[in-house]
Amino acid sequence: MHLTRRQVLGGLASSATALALPVRAAETTALTAQVVDMQLLPEEYGRTTIWGYGGTMPGQEIRVPQGGRVQRTLINQLPQATSVHWHGIRIDNAMDGVSGLTQAAVAPDTRFDYDFIAPDAGTYWYHAHNRSVEQVARGLYGALIVDEPVAPDIDQEDVFILDDWLIDPSTGQIDGDFEAMHDRSHAGRNGNFIATNGISGLTKTARQNERRRLRLINAANARIFELRLDGLEGWIVALDGMPLAKPEPFGNYLLLGPGQRADVFVDVTAEPGNAAHLLAVINDQSYPQVRFDVTGRASETRRPEPVALESNAYSPVMLENATQLALNMEGGAMGGLRAATLGGKRMDFRDLVAEGQFWAFNGAIGRAEDAPLARLARGEHVRLKISNDTAFPHAMHLHGMHFQEVSESGHLGPLRDTTLIFGDQTREIAFVAENSGNWLLHCHMLSHAASGMTTRIEVA
Ligand code: C2O
Ligand code: CU
Repeated sequence: MHLTRRQVLGGLASSATALALPVRAAETTALTAQVVDMQLLPEEYGRTTIWGYGGTMPGQEIRVPQGGRVQRTLINQLPQATSVHWHGIRIDNAMDGVSGLTQAAVAPDTRFDYDFIAPDAGTYWYHAHNRSVEQVARGLYGALIVDEPVAPDIDQEDVFILDDWLIDPSTGQIDGDFEAMHDRSHAGRNGNFIATNGISGLTKTARQNERRRLRLINAANARIFELRLDGLEGWIVALDGMPLAKPEPFGNYLLLGPGQRADVFVDVTAEPGNAAHLLAVINDQSYPQVRFDVTGRASETRRPEPVALESNAYSPVMLENATQLALNMEGGAMGGLRAATLGGKRMDFRDLVAEGQFWAFNGAIGRAEDAPLARLARGEHVRLKISNDTAFPHAMHLHGMHFQEVSESGHLGPLRDTTLIFGDQTREIAFVAENSGNWLLHCHMLSHAASGMTTRIEVA
């Protein structure tokens, strides 16, 4: 049994009215973080209390033209301090929204003005960045779309935010143990209720031979989505917001780590009367993440192959003479970490566990407030070798700048802001430190970020 979007929105409208606090009339740009009751689960479970932006799940979509200005006043109506991070935007550091680093957390019943330019077209997202492991899991996220100056030639666009909610089945409420040792020390907090835009088994209608742009955003705390297509032929046209030089055939599957995005053009090949699917593979089984009911034909013939999106202006990185940095990731279950420093103090693994800390970067429990991984000059070219000496995959995210993966042969891959690194893998990334400020570098598996996998890079 699945809910339709209209039912969910209808339900939200009434609860949002009941919860709304007075907002000044002229305030058209409020982004209110608030407690919302919504019908997330099948009806027999009743409503689930989530935290959301603007009374909807996902939070209100923010869309600006490339180079446009985003102005939002965060109004915190939550019982907890919060902040908003604009994931993937080459942003002014003061607007990056990292509580305790670029701003103080915004206390309940207070507000904070975000105001920045979005220089790059693409698919981005915003989410809470204070106690992220809890606040993102409770639903504090939304899409941030920056439109290309010339719209690509497509018939439809879908913004799909993928998430897995961890629900206590006996209450139908969000599992409130955000510090669970097992999640921290293993693969992170994985949910048991998978949804797209807050809807399980989301269904849309489509027409044969039409071309749709899927903007896929992984907002899950830890889940790596393995996505497949059925009745659709796809091309990846952008990753983490940034266009690929040439559309890449979708192939068998796409892995989307937490924090990552992909823009996929899909042509509907399924016949009218049939369904096409975006599938998610979970434990070797395919499930429809989104179903497209094909109701007719858009045209008699297929379109020609898609062309690349206009690239964003990004400084090319020069590998020769680049500053070499190294980051060794250690710890976790089966990781064999014996000791690490925490706040400058050497501690053995048992004492670290007592502090809820399980992971280390270069021998130290990583925290935003500790010394940076590197201090760089503005414009410095950098290669950073990340070695994953743990048994788990990690989704390493750099704030403020995109980077390129460097292949063994020295070839530069697409621009990304989050890279998936599997256990015992090494991945080199390279970038030009062209944005001044304090930029977090952390695992986007949010339990990991909270238990040692956070550092920062300082650009003068
Ligand atoms: Cu998407 Cu530091 O986060
Ligand atoms: Cu991790």
